[in-house]
Amino acid sequence: MEKRRKLIAGNWKMYKTLPQALELVMELKRLVAMVRGCDVAVIPPALLVEPVGRKLTDTGIAVGVQNIHDVGFGAFTGELSAEMLPGVGATYCIAGHSERRKIFGESDEVVNRKVKAILSVGVTPILCIGETLQEREEGRTTAVLRKQMEVGTSGLSEEQVGRIVLAYEPVWAIGTGRNATVEQVAEVHGWLREWLGDHFGGSVAEQVRIQYGGSVKPDNAAQLMHTKNVDGALVGGASLDAASFAQIVKSSL
Ligand code: 13P
Repeated sequence: MEKRRKLIAGNWKMYKTLPQALELVMELKRLVAMVRGCDVAVIPPALLVEPVGRKLTDTGIAVGVQNIHDVGFGAFTGELSAEMLPGVGATYCIAGHSERRKIFGESDEVVNRKVKAILSVGVTPILCIGETLQEREEGRTTAVLRKQMEVGTSGLSEEQVGRIVLAYEPVWAIGTGRNATVEQVAEVHGWLREWLGDHFGGSVAEQVRIQYGGSVKPDNAAQLMHTKNVDGALVGGASLDAASFAQIVKSSL
């Protein structure tokens, strides 16, 4: 079985102006363009995706989009359609980030429609899942993840699930400086791999990359990235600084 290639992706969230973004990617280009052992992506705010992607042509660093609406073209002022992703060079698109779920009220059903829309245009969805602190403390982590997985992948074929990237992002570890422990990550990722096997078969389970996200920093990345069943990272804060992000990329090799 081919070893899964790690994917280190920087989710910039709602940070960076265009000049700042271009400066960041020029620096990144210098620091990580030569890395061959893993996949690297930056996921800027949608307005910046095309110019950032243009700067990264021929570097091996991919670009992604943070969110789309769940339908094709239409009268939805201010929204983006999956149809627009390939034309701006997007390789990845996040669906169901916890900030979208919490702040913008996205349900698992909405997230599922987004995943389907992203797959339909040949782009790779990064499906985010994760429990809140309260859910973990109440012992409901597995139940929450099960529902997010069941509804999030509902109606998808084995082939489609094989094309998804999963990102386990415990909500309590996002932007808090408090990362999940290696044991917690290993437990959840192992459970997710098993869940995938039970529902979509062993070869799909082996194929799907499961990223960890939540306060990944240069000083904890090596340990987290070498934990069993961890196939990369979805990095928030530390991806806004080229040197930090580059260090995380290198620690994953
Ligand atoms: P932080 O790395 O800032 O905790 O953010 C994680 C995240 O939400 C990535 O999608």
